[in-house]
Amino acid sequence: MKLGILLSGRGSNFIAIADNLAAGQIPEAEIAVVISNKPYAAGIEEAQKRGLNAHVIQSKGLSRAEHDAAIVACLREHRVDLVCLAGYMRLISPVFLEAFPNRVLNIHPSLLPAFPGLDAQRQALEYGVRISGCTVHFVDENLDHGVIILQKAVPVLPADDEASLSQRILEQEHVAYTEAIKMVLSGEYEIKDRKYLKKK
Ligand code: GRF
Repeated sequence: MKLGILLSGRGSNFIAIADNLAAGQIPEAEIAVVISNKPYAAGIEEAQKRGLNAHVIQSKGLSRAEHDAAIVACLREHRVDLVCLAGYMRLISPVFLEAFPNRVLNIHPSLLPAFPGLDAQRQALEYGVRISGCTVHFVDENLDHGVIILQKAVPVLPADDEASLSQRILEQEHVAYTEAIKMVLSGEYEIKDRKYLKKK
């Protein structure tokens, strides 16, 4: 099974997935390609260092549909089965979703549906929740909205600031994403009424 990773920045989720695969956590999976919409993103530089197929596909001068079509073409070229958004800071268009139906995953640093969008950890702190966490979900046409695969809870501590809470959530993200990829690649599930149900 071939994974395609899309990122825009630091790439710590990509690195965690790559390390977990290297450690044999999903023997049937490999990273076929890493794509960034931003040149010089730390994540894409790390992919190059690791000798992975790494591409920068910038959106400048392209419509969203054109940019997504270029990304889909690249993913197809590398025969990708499952697309993992890992800090990819762009909305995905219907063209993309139609090419990979129920085959695009995203990770978000809150317990959705709470705090979608940017700065989820700051939103959680400002709201005063006592528990936050992370969510891995299928991507649909709405922001941070698709069917939830896996969530991990993280307590919000009285002394937390945005940096400390983000760091504690990130540690769980690095575990959760690989687990969710494994769950999806197993194929042993069905989706019913927005619910991910494991087949018996
Ligand atoms: C993570 O917090 C992820 O949940 C969110 O963007 C951040 C990406 O971090 N979607 P990284 O680039 O994987 O380090």
